[in-house]
Amino acid sequence: MRLSCWPSLSSSRMAVKLNLLLPLFCCVALLVTPNDGSLLRSSRNRTMSAKPFKVLITHPEVPQSGIDLLKENCELVQVQSLPPSRAELLQKIKGVDGVFWGGHDALNAEVLDAAGPQLKSISTMSAGIDYVDLEEVKRRKIPLGHTPTVLNTAVADLAVGLLIAAGRRFHEARRKIDTDNWENYHLNWLLGQDVRDSVIGFFGFGGIGQAIAKRLSGFDIDQVLYTTRRRIDRETEKELNAKKVEFDELLAKSDFVVIASPLTPATQGIFNATAFNKMKKTAVLVNIARGKIVNQDDLYEALKSNRIFAAGLDVVDPEPLPPNNKLLALDNVVILPHIGSATTRTRSDMATIAAHNVLRGLAGERMLSPAY
Ligand code: DGY
Repeated sequence: MRLSCWPSLSSSRMAVKLNLLLPLFCCVALLVTPNDGSLLRSSRNRTMSAKPFKVLITHPEVPQSGIDLLKENCELVQVQSLPPSRAELLQKIKGVDGVFWGGHDALNAEVLDAAGPQLKSISTMSAGIDYVDLEEVKRRKIPLGHTPTVLNTAVADLAVGLLIAAGRRFHEARRKIDTDNWENYHLNWLLGQDVRDSVIGFFGFGGIGQAIAKRLSGFDIDQVLYTTRRRIDRETEKELNAKKVEFDELLAKSDFVVIASPLTPATQGIFNATAFNKMKKTAVLVNIARGKIVNQDDLYEALKSNRIFAAGLDVVDPEPLPPNNKLLALDNVVILPHIGSATTRTRSDMATIAAHNVLRGLAGERMLSPAY
C-alpha cells in the first residue's frame, strides 16, 4: 500500500542525490503541504482505505501543522498529560504503526517493546537525538527520522544573541540595576569583548555552525576557525573565511568558542578544565548544542576564577537546571532554558518535517531527514 506523497527512491544514486537535495526537499515539503496538500490528497486517493495506519503523537502540544498532515491518512492517538506521562505513553503506544516523538524523553527499548513488532516508522521533532537509543532502534530496523536544517536559522539567531550578551555582560549589567549599583561614574565600567576583528572558533561546523558564521560575517570578524572530523567543502570555507584546525589550536586562538556539535561519547565532557586552561583569558564560550558536552563543574571554576571571560549557554546539564545551581549565582554567565528552536514558525516547520518522516516511513520510503 502506498501512502507517501514522495516518489520511491530505490537506487543508491537517487539516495545520494536526495541527501544533497535534502534542504530543498524540506522547503518543498513546507511549501506544498500546508497551503495545498494536493500531493497528499492524490496519495490518499491511491490508498484503499481512508485511515490505514495508527500513529501515536507523544505530546499534547505538537504544532497543528504536523497533526493536520498525519490525520489525512492516519488514525491518531495522542498523549494528553502535561508534562507527558510515561505511563500514558506506554499504554497508548501499544499496537501503533508510527510514532511522532514530540519531546525529549528517553526513546528506548522499553518504549519499543511496549509498541510491539508492527511499529514501522518513528520521527522525533528535534535535530539532536541524544535521548534516543539509536542502537536499539537500528537493531529492530525501524526507520527513524529527525528534523535538522529547519531549525538552523532560529538556533543561529539565538547563538549570536548569546555571544553578544555574554561578551558584553548583559546579565551582570542587569544585576547592577536590580541591586542599585548603577556606577556609571567609572570610566571602565562593565567593559566587554568586541565581536569586531575577533576570531570565532566553532566546535562542530554543520548547518547550525555555518548559519552562525554567516550571520557573524556581518559583524566584521577577523576569521572563522572550526574543528570537525571532516573538512567542509572548499566553497563554503571560502565564503565564510573558515579554516579547519585541531581542537587545541581552536581553543588557543579563538576569542569566541561556539559549541555546535552533536553530543556523542567522543564529545561528552570534552570542554573540561584542560580545555578551559588552553583558552584565552578573554574568551567567551557559547553552547547551543548539548549541556553534557561541557563539564559544568569545570566551567563553573573557569568562570568563577576568571580563567575565561564569560559563557552564554542555551543548554545545560541537567535540564531543567535547578534554581539553586551554582552557575546561576555567577555574574559572567548568561543562561537560557534551551530555547534555540523556540519560534512559532520553526516549531511548526519541525512538526511538518517530522510528520512527513513518519508518513514516508509508513510507506516504506526513505524519510525526508533520516537519522541513520
Ligand atoms: C534540537 O532540536 O535538537 C534542539 O536542541 C531543540 O530541541
